[in-house]
Amino acid sequence: MKKKLNVGMVGYGFMGRTHSNAFGKAGNFFELPFQPVLKTICARNLERAQAFASNWGYEKVETDWRKLVESPEIDLVDIASPNDTHLEIAVAAARAGKMVMCEKPLGRNAAESEQMVAAVEAAGVANMVWYNYRRVPAVMLAKQLIDEGRLGRIFHYRAKFLQDWTISTDLPQGGEGLWRLDRSVAGSGVTGDLLAHTIDTAMWLNGGIDEVSAMTETFIKSRKHNLTGEVAPVTIDDASLALARFRNGSLATFEATRYARGHKALYTLEINGENASIMWDLHDLHRLEYFDHKDEGLLRGWKSIHITDREHPYMSHWWVPGLQIGYEHTFVHQVADFLTALGEGKSASPNFREAMATDDVTDAVLESAAKKQWVKVRAR
Ligand SMILES: NC(=O)c1ccc[n+]([C@@H]2O[C@H](COP(=O)([O-])OP(=O)(O)OC[C@H]3O[C@@H](n4cnc5c(N)ncnc54)[C@H](O)[C@@H]3O)[C@@H](O)[C@H]2O)c1
Repeated sequence: MKKKLNVGMVGYGFMGRTHSNAFGKAGNFFELPFQPVLKTICARNLERAQAFASNWGYEKVETDWRKLVESPEIDLVDIASPNDTHLEIAVAAARAGKMVMCEKPLGRNAAESEQMVAAVEAAGVANMVWYNYRRVPAVMLAKQLIDEGRLGRIFHYRAKFLQDWTISTDLPQGGEGLWRLDRSVAGSGVTGDLLAHTIDTAMWLNGGIDEVSAMTETFIKSRKHNLTGEVAPVTIDDASLALARFRNGSLATFEATRYARGHKALYTLEINGENASIMWDLHDLHRLEYFDHKDEGLLRGWKSIHITDREHPYMSHWWVPGLQIGYEHTFVHQVADFLTALGEGKSASPNFREAMATDDVTDAVLESAAKKQWVKVRAR
């Protein structure tokens, strides 16, 4: 019998669903040292929380996260609620001796993240942040190719995360479903929401970032606030563009926006090395485009590798070669990696400390844009 691990989840929104699905499925597809149990779902609206619990198989419902965190039957607190709740819940959970998984961005800024890192490290509890795009098999393969040195020296890193859902001037800001437009809740606009993903992946693949020069823009200056009903200034960044220099000397461009008409969630990255280049696109997430200059000249060109073979990362756990997997599997992989690492007495990557490094960069991006200057990223 595997040891049971009781999960207490905060938030039943978009991420509450992806995480619940992942905790439910991971043990079916991966040989894991623990069996996650969907013990308690916590959200403020009792009726909706009950409906969610019955749909996803949670045993209990809680409306106050403090009670969830204190409950002796909970082993792991999973934070899938908006960014302004992460700090308080994570610190309380760590102090109560619980393992903590937290959605990204870890804090609304690095100062918040620091307190969360201090709390989990003082308590000695396992911790992880859900930067799930690392666990797309194609992105994991990119990591392997880079670590094997196949690209050689890396010159360029280019990433974009493009959406178009806030273009309408009628869209209110704040409140349910729209908290991302309220800076007091989200911490920032697309910088913490979307650019953070591109930066986490970039630093994981290509090392730390030394300095940035950025610009941000708020295209729609005022919107009706859904909670107060008042028309109020918009204080989030709608678009965020950064130039960056990695510590290894390579150069990067990062772009995130919710104003790229036609794009819903287009996360793309490209890496150019002296020997080879890689391109990846979230809309075609099961493919990795690869160019190897060592190939015979006559046939040299971009390969589109269908990441479905057994030797590809994670794929031996799924179907048969040729059959692809998708977005939700990245969360299943994250649970599997977390529980595997836990069995070895470790935290899977990115742990809180590693995710704080992303907040250091996004803080520098926002500071650079405000000051219209290059800004050094805090070196810890
Ligand atoms: N990893 C990713 O790709 C990814 C994608 C989307 C969101 N996120 C992150 O996940 C988190 C949640 O985002 P979402 O899209 O699921 O939001 P959402 O608005 O869909 O859901 C948020 C949930 O939190 C609940 N909630 C809010 N305040 C609460 C409180 N005080 N106590 C208990 N429950 C509370 C809400 O009722 C709702 O169920 C955010 O930090 C966001 O940045 C990450």
